[in-house]
Amino acid sequence: MMRAIGIARLVVSASLAIVLISAAAGVLHASPLPQKSAQDVYLDKCSVCHAKDGSGNTAKGKKVKAKDLRSAEIQKMTDAELIKDVGQGKGKDMDGFEKELGADMVKQLVAYCRALAKP
Ligand code: HEC
Repeated sequence: MMRAIGIARLVVSASLAIVLISAAAGVLHASPLPQKSAQDVYLDKCSVCHAKDGSGNTAKGKKVKAKDLRSAEIQKMTDAELIKDVGQGKGKDMDGFEKELGADMVKQLVAYCRALAKP
């Protein structure tokens, strides 16, 4: 009988330790907040018009005539030009994103647009 209680206690404290360790690991894992990748941001902010693949083949993309980001017309532009257009906006339908996302993320997004063009 005593033995059974002893084992039960051991099991309880062992599971408590596991809970505590995983909680601590969770806290460590959660902070600092992981940086969003350019892909996450693209899917969140850009794909509504430009589509996942950059084609612009979405309802909204067709409506605002979003250009195919993979096209030669876009890809022949320099990084500096694309960074300016994504950062400051282009035409009447595309807003600039520099204020919202920061200059560094704009750069990463332009690199992501380049990557979409590669088969
Ligand atoms: C509301 C729809 C919309 C959203 C959202 C949007 N775009 Fe655009 N984008 C457009 C349209 C429309 C054009 C074509 C503008 C023009 O040439 O007049 C364009 C053009 C571009 C171009 C080509 C620029 C150039 O110089 O021709 C790039 C690169 C681009 N978008 C990237 C992005 C990225 C990256 C995001 C997300 C951060 C984004 N777009 C979000 C509508 C959108």
